Amino acid sequence: MTDFTSVSGKIAIVTGAADGLGKAIALCFAENGMKVVVSDIHSDKGSEVVREITSNGGDAVFFKADVSKEEDVRGLIDLAVETYGRLDGIVNNAGISADSRPIHEYSIEEFDKITAIDLKGVFMGMKYGIEAILKSKSPGGFVINVASLAGIMGNSSMGIYTSSKHGVVGLTKTAALDYAAYNITVNAICPGTIRTSIWGDAPEEVIQQYAKILSPNGRLGDPKEVAHVALFLASDLARYISGSAITIDAGSHVGKVTPTQWSHPEILD
Ligand SMILES: NC(=O)c1ccc[n+]([C@@H]2O[C@H](COP(=O)([O-])OP(=O)(O)OC[C@H]3O[C@@H](n4cnc5c(N)ncnc54)[C@H](O)[C@@H]3O)[C@@H](O)[C@H]2O)c1
Repeated sequence: MTDFTSVSGKIAIVTGAADGLGKAIALCFAENGMKVVVSDIHSDKGSEVVREITSNGGDAVFFKADVSKEEDVRGLIDLAVETYGRLDGIVNNAGISADSRPIHEYSIEEFDKITAIDLKGVFMGMKYGIEAILKSKSPGGFVINVASLAGIMGNSSMGIYTSSKHGVVGLTKTAALDYAAYNITVNAICPGTIRTSIWGDAPEEVIQQYAKILSPNGRLGDPKEVAHVALFLASDLARYISGSAITIDAGSHVGKVTPTQWSHPEILD
């Protein structure tokens, strides 16, 4: 029988865990017996996630940290080790989107702001997180970087976000090789279009239009569908998977959907 009990008792940090994918991953980890350091720039929502976990019998703490600030990231890793005695894994999830614009219209300030969170933030989470996992001598250490389809494909009018996410995949592949001998797996997950607040206040009909264009099955993904992949990568079932950029996108990265003429539509009846 295959089960996920190997994750139980593992200590993990999830950044950007007050909302969206990070929240879904933190809740899923805790439901499966992991001890979770929930981190975000938003203390109220982050503490609410911790309350949800502890009221369901799980174990979690909140630490406010901005992943673009080195002192915050170091503080976050120290807090995890002080609280739980070691660190087994980190999910570098915190990220922001960017306005859609061609490259010549972006400012240097926008480049610095987005890359500071989406790329440098992941680098710092890896730098300090991996050091702590190594010191912990975790037998099942893991790093999960939340990239995007924009980490493996071009993305029109999203040059800064896309280059940051490609950088995240590059860091992932390199670290997979650097730490393979030290029992640490390093993978990226590449969500397609998932329903979270990253969509901002876009009207529902616009979101649905995007889902139809961007997702072969015509719907947005659910954050839980991303969390389940993260849980698998954190578990000992995935110890032979490293350096991968795993897409969670209903297949949108493999090509375009074109209308198909069914010869026997009656089989759908
Ligand atoms: N939702 C999607 O369709 C989608 C698709 C591909 C990739 N992603 C990636 O998934 C990750 C999570 O996105 P989401 O959709 O859950 O977004 P979200 O906006 O719902 O959640 C992001 C969380 O990160 C936090 N955050 C933002 N800046 C931060 C910082 N500097 N330091 C710490 N925390 C910070 C926010 O407060 C928020 O709680 C991002 O890296 C994003 O690029 C999302």
